[in-house]
Amino acid sequence: MTEIAGKAAVVTGGGSGIGMGLAKELARRGARVAVTDIQHEKAEAVATAIRDAGGEAVALHCDVCERVSISTMRDAAVAALGPVQLVFANAGATSFTHLTDMSDEDVDWIIQVNLMGVMNTTRAFLPGMIAAGGGHVCATASMAGLLPGWMPVHVPYSAAKMGIIGMMMNLAIEMKPQNVFTTSYCPGGVASGMKANNGTYRPQKFGGPEPVAEVQFAGGDKTHASMPFYRPEDIAPIVLNAVKNNRPFVFDHAEQRALFAQTYAAVVEACYDDLDKWSLENGIPAANPYGADLID
Ligand SMILES: NC(=O)c1ccc[n+]([C@@H]2O[C@H](COP(=O)([O-])OP(=O)(O)OC[C@H]3O[C@@H](n4cnc5c(N)ncnc54)[C@H](O)[C@@H]3O)[C@@H](O)[C@H]2O)c1
Repeated sequence: MTEIAGKAAVVTGGGSGIGMGLAKELARRGARVAVTDIQHEKAEAVATAIRDAGGEAVALHCDVCERVSISTMRDAAVAALGPVQLVFANAGATSFTHLTDMSDEDVDWIIQVNLMGVMNTTRAFLPGMIAAGGGHVCATASMAGLLPGWMPVHVPYSAAKMGIIGMMMNLAIEMKPQNVFTTSYCPGGVASGMKANNGTYRPQKFGGPEPVAEVQFAGGDKTHASMPFYRPEDIAPIVLNAVKNNRPFVFDHAEQRALFAQTYAAVVEACYDDLDKWSLENGIPAANPYGADLID
């Protein structure tokens, strides 16, 4: 079980949407919260709202694409709140542009924020977490990572989000002796600032701010037109309950279960049918006598 009350927590991308909901719920449950964001004024507004409600919070600027920015933020968070044992690597950005229309900078930005941002944040906080006796990393992935067919026109985004899931699952094994747990949170439609703000704050090194793209789905997709978007404050308690219970995954749309089951059943069938057929006809390959090493 991961205790939340009395712990210091960091939320990246905490100035808006899901991160804002998580920061407020963490404070409501008695954590001291560093609300961090590339849009500092938004982080400041959330931290102020938490303090006004009687909670403890500081606002810190942080660009998760920049390692120095993260280590500066980490040092400030620890100085203000004490050892950080709860990390919510949540900052993310999306793009509704076809891969063939994306520039190198467009692709780099999506991968850097969504994948390397989580990697950079996790690495910066792990040593302190271990020294403090353990902790929890909750990364905001996406249903677009777990079910890449769920959100069309999201190639680099899906790649990054699936990467986060791999990172969290592997990290959990490595960190078990250190009492550090991980959760991959896969939102499946939460009302947020993403559609309106996304791209307006894109850093210069990735091409600078860009106009908000029209949301277009391939093939007149109907799933998304009727998809419910939940509110961050209604979702945050579900995510924090999963963190408390050390769950490796948490989802927020119960109705996506069917697509999840279909997707993975199809993967298993397609892959193992072929393998079973091959093995029946050709037998199972002989094991290399030297194990993993190739020795002539
Ligand atoms: N809203 C959804 O339906 C949905 C679905 C799947 C995944 N997600 C994921 O949820 C997370 C939160 O997004 P949201 O929907 O709340 O959108 P949002 O735009 O409301 O919040 C994202 C926050 O991240 C911040 N951010 C962006 N780039 C940053 C950077 N380089 N460094 C630090 N902060 C940065 C933004 O300033 C913003 O405040 C993202 O990782 C997103 O990919 C959201």
